[in-house]
Amino acid sequence: MLRRNFLALTVGWGAILSAFVSTAVAAVRFLVPNVLYEPSGRLRLGTPDDFPDGATFLDEERVYVLRKGNTFRAVSGVCTHLGCTVNRLAAGQGYFCPCHGSEFGNDGRVISGPAPRALPWFAVSLARDGRIVVDMRRRVEADDYLVV
Ligand code: FES
Repeated sequence: MLRRNFLALTVGWGAILSAFVSTAVAAVRFLVPNVLYEPSGRLRLGTPDDFPDGATFLDEERVYVLRKGNTFRAVSGVCTHLGCTVNRLAAGQGYFCPCHGSEFGNDGRVISGPAPRALPWFAVSLARDGRIVVDMRRRVEADDYLVV
């Protein structure tokens, strides 16, 4: 066989093989669904004793867990304007968004904009193992709380 023919055959079969392999990879990839795994929205936290009186901020979830004696509540720390993290003001005077200056009352209501809606409150419950559970999928009223 001439060197030129050998080279042409090698390149040709290489191209055909490459086309088959890439088609097979694309077909297999097509069979695997694109799934977006999101967090469940249920936060399993510590036991009630792990929370001091006052507010505990959960950095990752941007949620404030508020303890007052034996009662627990949870409010979102995400501003309803454009999603910045709100700061809790001292002495329970509400929340302030540093991005555009929205102010929220202690109950999460908007005191001054541009935030269009109040901060949402989340359902808090006690799991069987005695841990606090915050369900970010269930909204509750500001005066709804868990008593332990
Ligand atoms: Fe909070 Fe704009 S993101 S006021």
